Amino acid sequence: MASVDNAGSNVSGRLRSGDLLHAGLAVALLLGVWTVGGLEVSTGKVSSIEAMNGSTVLLPCTYSSCIGIKNLYFNWRYNDNGTLMKLCEAEIPMEGVEPRVFVFHERVEFVGSSKSNNISILLWNITFEDQGEYICFARNPKEKNRNHSAVFTLIVVDQMKEVDNTLTVIIVSVLGGVIGLVIIVMVIKALVVHFLLKDDEKNKECLVSSSGNDNTENGLSGAKADNKGTPKA
Ligand SMILES: *[C@@H]1O[C@H](CO)[C@@H](O)[C@H](O)[C@H]1NC(C)=O
Ligand SMILES: *[C@@H]1O[C@H](CO)[C@@H](O)[C@H](O)[C@H]1NC(C)=O
Ligand SMILES: *[C@@H]1O[C@H](CO)[C@@H](O)[C@H](O)[C@H]1NC(C)=O
Ligand SMILES: *[C@@H]1O[C@H](CO)[C@@H](O)[C@H](O)[C@H]1NC(C)=O
Ligand SMILES: *[C@@H]1O[C@H](CO)[C@@H](O)[C@H](O)[C@H]1NC(C)=O
Repeated sequence: MASVDNAGSNVSGRLRSGDLLHAGLAVALLLGVWTVGGLEVSTGKVSSIEAMNGSTVLLPCTYSSCIGIKNLYFNWRYNDNGTLMKLCEAEIPMEGVEPRVFVFHERVEFVGSSKSNNISILLWNITFEDQGEYICFARNPKEKNRNHSAVFTLIVVDQMKEVDNTLTVIIVSVLGGVIGLVIIVMVIKALVVHFLLKDDEKNKECLVSSSGNDNTENGLSGAKADNKGTPKA
């Protein structure tokens, strides 16, 4: 039911700028159709997307019908400041049969599949002019040609923002790396100094012990001298 609410709010949102009475009528009509269990068209849980200029976006749309479809007609239109530009259109003969899609826009590609009731399109290499409302429209002759649509809003954002972000990320990571390096160098220095001092201590010990030996030798020699001296005395 989330998709129903979503599509409903989309339709009312689209028409709010126009005639409120028409919006109310349209919503009432759509709700009436839904309670009957006819065709549903939905752009999914998210009804808008923010994308960078130059990127490629998926404009999602799916349909569902409890009574089944036959020669389901659908199209995608772009609301160009009030005038609707048709981007593509096709007819799905029956469930599971892939439609032959006529595309009227050089950067539009149909990527849907009737196997998954999917009539999504891709819009390649978007520019700021592509910003706005995209309307997914479907009509199922099985239910007296009632019109169904859902609106998907595309917001194009500047690539510069992203560049700034990557720049700050680079600066932060470089700074972090430098600080980390300094810390590592300091730790290594401390360790090296520590071990060098230890080595010095060992050397000192060696010197002390060897000099001690010398002393004992001296002592011994001294004792010998003393011994030699004692008989003399
Ligand atoms: C996106 O817009 C920015 C700023 O207007 C521009 O410098 C950049 O070239 C654009 N990128 C593409 C891929 O069009
Ligand atoms: C779009 O509509 C606004 C007013 O609603 C108008 O000022 C503007 O000139 C229009 N732009 C184009 C390209 O038609
Ligand atoms: C999108 O832009 C790329 C690189 O600029 C280009 O190779 C590709 O053909 C474009 N695609 C369409 C559908 O215009
Ligand atoms: C519709 O098909 C497109 C392309 O295969 C895919 O990316 C998208 O997720 C599909 N949408 C749904 C609702 O299945
Ligand atoms: C559906 O829309 C078409 C125009 O696209 C219109 O001719 C037709 O009368 C509409 N059908 C209904 C039932 O509103």
